[in-house]
Amino acid sequence: MLLLSIYIAFFALLAGRVYSLNITVPGMGNLTQTQFLKLSDATLISVCGQTCTGADTIIAACGTDEGCVCANATAQAVYNCEQCVFTELIKENRPMPDVLSGNQVVLTSYKTACAAAPLNVTIPAEFVTLQLPSDWDGPFGQGLTTFTTAVYLASALIIGGGAITVVNTM
Ligand SMILES: *[C@@H]1O[C@H](CO)[C@@H](O)[C@H](O)[C@H]1NC(C)=O
Ligand SMILES: *[C@@H]1O[C@H](CO)[C@@H](O)[C@H](O)[C@H]1NC(C)=O
Ligand SMILES: *[C@@H]1O[C@H](CO)[C@@H](O)[C@H](O)[C@H]1NC(C)=O
Ligand SMILES: *[C@@H]1O[C@H](CO)[C@@H](O)[C@H](O)[C@H]1NC(C)=O
Repeated sequence: MLLLSIYIAFFALLAGRVYSLNITVPGMGNLTQTQFLKLSDATLISVCGQTCTGADTIIAACGTDEGCVCANATAQAVYNCEQCVFTELIKENRPMPDVLSGNQVVLTSYKTACAAAPLNVTIPAEFVTLQLPSDWDGPFGQGLTTFTTAVYLASALIIGGGAITVVNTM
């Protein structure tokens, strides 16, 4: 699997650190900085695993330095991971396999966690906003109207999670 940095959290705990970044993802509760980039889907891991591992390595290297976790370079890497997954899901035309994969909610939660006191770090919007792929040239999925597609994408961006199903026969 991707993320081995649970050890970091473990040692941080052992060292008696009270402060850790709580990334509150709806439906997932509080996640630590070492948990929120997990990919569970084999295809996504094969396509984006390297990108996401890159982000995880940076986060792991930050250790208990939360300012580092929220820094631009880290945010860029986190964004690259989620954007890669988001782009791949659109390319494959399928819903998110889980809440943490290619989900705007993850970036928003990360942003919120960094913005909270005592850190108060504002991550630049470009690092916490998923973009439609530049080569996305129309309806997202066969048989979907542009309107349905827009609604579907909006739902995917806003809600996230496994409850979204596309009815391909529409
Ligand atoms: C989740 O994180 C929030 C914000 O940091 C904190 O107030 C809350 O106590 C945490 N909840 C749990 C169950 O740890
Ligand atoms: C994060 O949550 C843990 C418990 O889940 C709590 O001990 C810690 O103080 C929280 N950190 C922040 C910044 O809210
Ligand atoms: C982070 O990036 C933003 C926008 O790209 C920039 O304005 C800001 O100065 C950067 N912060 C640091 C500490 O480099
Ligand atoms: C963070 O913001 C809170 C509330 O706005 C403020 O009380 C606190 O002093 C700030 N902390 C830092 C380190 O800027």
